[in-house]
Amino acid sequence: MDFSVTATAATNEQTDAVVIGVFEHRRLSPAGDALDRASEGYLRAILESGDIDGDADSSLLLHNVPGVCARRVLLVGCGKPEALDLRQFQRINAVASRVLQGSGASSATNCLTDLEVQGADLRRKARAVVEASAGSGYRFDECKSEAERPAQPLSRIALGVDDAARAEVEAGVAEARAISAGLTLTKDLANRPANICTPAHLAEQAEALAHRFERITTSVLEEAGMAELGMGALLSVSQGSRQPAKLITMEYRGAADAKAKPFVFVGKGVTFDTGGISIKPSAGMEEMKFDMGGAASVFGLIRACAEMNLPANVIGLVPAVENMPDGNAIRPGDIVTSLAGKTIEIINTDAEGRLILCDALTYAQRFEPETIIDIATLTGACVVALGSQASALMTPNDALAQELFEAGEASGDRCWRLPLWEEYQDQLHSAFADFTHVGGRDAGSITAGCFLWRFARDYERWAHFDIAGTAWNRGEQKGATGRPLPLLMQYLLDRVNA
Ligand code: BES
Ligand code: MN
Ligand code: ZN
Repeated sequence: MDFSVTATAATNEQTDAVVIGVFEHRRLSPAGDALDRASEGYLRAILESGDIDGDADSSLLLHNVPGVCARRVLLVGCGKPEALDLRQFQRINAVASRVLQGSGASSATNCLTDLEVQGADLRRKARAVVEASAGSGYRFDECKSEAERPAQPLSRIALGVDDAARAEVEAGVAEARAISAGLTLTKDLANRPANICTPAHLAEQAEALAHRFERITTSVLEEAGMAELGMGALLSVSQGSRQPAKLITMEYRGAADAKAKPFVFVGKGVTFDTGGISIKPSAGMEEMKFDMGGAASVFGLIRACAEMNLPANVIGLVPAVENMPDGNAIRPGDIVTSLAGKTIEIINTDAEGRLILCDALTYAQRFEPETIIDIATLTGACVVALGSQASALMTPNDALAQELFEAGEASGDRCWRLPLWEEYQDQLHSAFADFTHVGGRDAGSITAGCFLWRFARDYERWAHFDIAGTAWNRGEQKGATGRPLPLLMQYLLDRVNA
């Protein structure tokens, strides 16, 4: 999709559709008022007749409005003006995009940035408009033999703004383009089936990024290298699979000071999770191709940073494995030695994510992170606790927790903190090894976080995201969401703009 900024009056726009807002009780947005004047009260007459009142989530598509160049005028309900915050604005734009997608229009001018949105400046509003349009245009159809796209898809969006607003809006559009490119990569990788998206495939994707962007370099550590270092926990997960494990590093150097400490993001890259010998029930197991959603968000983040030329150093680290049962697979009761030297009693081979992450966390010490954040579809318990509304955030660092929480609110990609109290650590006691990796049914997400924390004690700023409930949609809208990329990107933008 192509995005641009236009400063011509909405009435004169040569476009297939103009999008304007209507607040509750039929109040038009400023651009809407201008169209109404040009149409000599035609819009107002339609509002008076009760076709649309302005409730949030409502919309009305009009054709051939007199005095207006565009073929269509789309009115979108904005609800109460005082309730219009960024989340609501994102929703309104999602509604507008959806209606446009199905309307036959291939171009549109969106004039919604003229709405007052609490806590959002022009730049932020422009970002939201572009992100919503790009998001609604996303399809994963690379595995369909015939494309299911409409004959005339919506392909050009202009943001209609006043001349004075142009520079700010353009900055927002540029940010959104970069984020959307990252989101597309995240979704594509996560949606791609596990017979194609293997650890080797992820390694190739990293190399492709390095090839495309000068500021990205990539390296891949193979199993032999991991064995030499002593990554017994990570290797134990992939030993039942035909697919060799890969430890992928992507380095984006964008800071003025190339030696500035990096933000490090570690993404769980289980390309398929059968559960191993502790095998999962068959129903719904196909969803476990998304078990590399954390890794996918790290790929997208690195790509977005590079597209944006973000002035920061950012490293993505992806332990990529497939969790399969075979004659060589790890068994419950096996004891493995982690890179940190601690021995771990494997209780349930389906708790594989933390085994690959713990070695990756230790490995990341070599990067001397400014901040280190791991992202993982780690526990079913997280879905029970928070559903799909919020990712679970765990960190012992209150300041970091606050920063990440705020990034979640500011991006509309929310997270909620769970505690890492020492008392929970007792659940990881093992009779035979230094500790186990599962703490039983109670507080399942927290004890997973507690396990990881044992490998992150040396970091001043470490956080863990459990995205099991947020990384993909179930049911009708099946597929990867791209979360928590918007949150992570917002976090980085807030740091570089601080
Ligand atoms: N990948 C799963 C977690 C998961 C479950 C993500 C459902 C998304 C939806 C993870 O590897 C897993 O199997 N976790 C186990 C841990 C348990 C054995 C301690 C779980 O949550 O059941
Ligand atoms: Mn599992
Ligand atoms: Zn898993």
